[in-house]
Amino acid sequence: MQNLIGEDKKMETMGNLLILFTASLCLYLFVALLNVFYKYWWIPQRVQFIMNSQGIRGPPYEFIHGNNKEIAQMFMEASTKPMALTHDIFPRVVPHVYSWINKYGKTYLSWNGIRARLLITDPELVKEVLKNSEKAFRKTKASYFFDKLIGDGLASTEQYDSAVVASVETMLEKWKSKEGKEIEVFQEFRLLTSEVISRTAFGSSYLEGEKIFDMLTKLSVITGRNIFKAKIPIISKFWKSADEIESERIAKMIHDSVMSIVEKREKRVVTGEADNFGCDFLGLLVNAYHEVDEKNRLSIQDLVDECKTFYFAGQETVNSLLAWATLLLAIHTNWQDRARAEVIEVFGSQNPNFEGMAKLKTITMIINETLRLYPPISGVIREVGREVQLGKLVLPTHSEVDMRIIALHHDPDLWGDDVNLFKPERFAEGIAKATKYNAAAFMPFGLGPRSCVGMSFAITEAKTTLSMILQRYTVTVSPTYVHAPAPRLTLKPQHEMQLLFHSLHYDA
Ligand code: HEM
Repeated sequence: MQNLIGEDKKMETMGNLLILFTASLCLYLFVALLNVFYKYWWIPQRVQFIMNSQGIRGPPYEFIHGNNKEIAQMFMEASTKPMALTHDIFPRVVPHVYSWINKYGKTYLSWNGIRARLLITDPELVKEVLKNSEKAFRKTKASYFFDKLIGDGLASTEQYDSAVVASVETMLEKWKSKEGKEIEVFQEFRLLTSEVISRTAFGSSYLEGEKIFDMLTKLSVITGRNIFKAKIPIISKFWKSADEIESERIAKMIHDSVMSIVEKREKRVVTGEADNFGCDFLGLLVNAYHEVDEKNRLSIQDLVDECKTFYFAGQETVNSLLAWATLLLAIHTNWQDRARAEVIEVFGSQNPNFEGMAKLKTITMIINETLRLYPPISGVIREVGREVQLGKLVLPTHSEVDMRIIALHHDPDLWGDDVNLFKPERFAEGIAKATKYNAAAFMPFGLGPRSCVGMSFAITEAKTTLSMILQRYTVTVSPTYVHAPAPRLTLKPQHEMQLLFHSLHYDA
């Protein structure tokens, strides 16, 4: 009998627990749903209403996805259409921006998932956002190490000679066996720029650095193809796609490789082989990792992240610039001849040197015109930190400002009807004259306090590489090349870039 009462009590307690559990679960689900509703419906609707009431239109917000599905579709269509060998690349590279500017005007609101994006193309407003000193428009935190590294003279003569000239020589040595044959330059420049950035970042350990950069390239490919995929709320916490699993695996490998290089540096100091961690990028990072003051100490994750940013910022961009500049020289052979004559006049058959760089006027014009027509980075974004006035508009929090460099560079109102023609002579009297003193009309490196810190390094690297190629070769477009610029984080040729190089038999 007592046993039965005991059983009843147990059952009752279990029943109560079950009710409590079910009630908590329902409450949890209700709160989670409310949260989803607030984030994914209420805020976007509110932001859309605020912007619409100020006369700003745009494609309507779609639950969870924003406009991502439509954008992905437009990209797919644009990338499968054949294209003539022209420089009118804006509609192909960012088809959604091109189409929405035509439909809604030069300032419109679109949706990257649940993020509201206000596109602005008025150079005055662009300047206002990028030069804003009150931190109303935020960018992700600045890298202390880049500033320090570049500040400490990344583009100084010593680094320059060892990193750039040596790497270009290695590349050109390989080309000797390909005389008169087709060369896929995008891959060649990928190896070159990886080596340059690897030598600069990792000094003597650059070969190990390159392995890490290889893995980062794989990671960037995965990131690129997932850019417009929205995460399904709640479910995405429990379910991972194959790409997510793969990127976690690569991230772990990168982490382990960075750790192994760091440990090697540490060992050299412990065994007395070296008396410090070195003054290259990795050396600076390892020093910060050993910082005595805990507050300023760099975590291993931060260290890995710094390496990633350095690689993407410094390698992919220059890779893109070099490829498009070489293609433009191959198409516009009159400019190629002028550029070569200048290089021979300045350097003769000698390797380029730091002092001669400033004398390369024609090459500078060509690089600027390449960066205008084929900007490696198609746009910059700033987050609206708090409600703020921009021109006549009031922008709510939870929004972003999207400044499309490529839209500004291809705007006939700013550049004239010949906007899509390759005319380096625009820059004959400098950038200010070319843009009619309108700074935001040409901003391949961004603008204002958070613009690119590697600009001079990038330009020097490009001038050196182009000079060394021109000293040895004439270049033409291969009949197998298919013109299809594609945005993959940076601007890349969709079907590689095949060019033909003919030796000048000039003993450089
Ligand atoms: C043609 C080559 C390059 C182009 C077109 C380019 C372009 C840009 C642009 C548009 C930005 C964003 C600016 C903004 O948000 O306002 C940027 C940022 C940056 N760039 Fe470059 N860049 C190039 C080469 C380099 C190189 C060679 C390095 C370093 C070695 C570098 C380091 C950086 C860094 C550290 C940032 C800031 C990253 C951050 O804090 O988020 N860039 N670059």
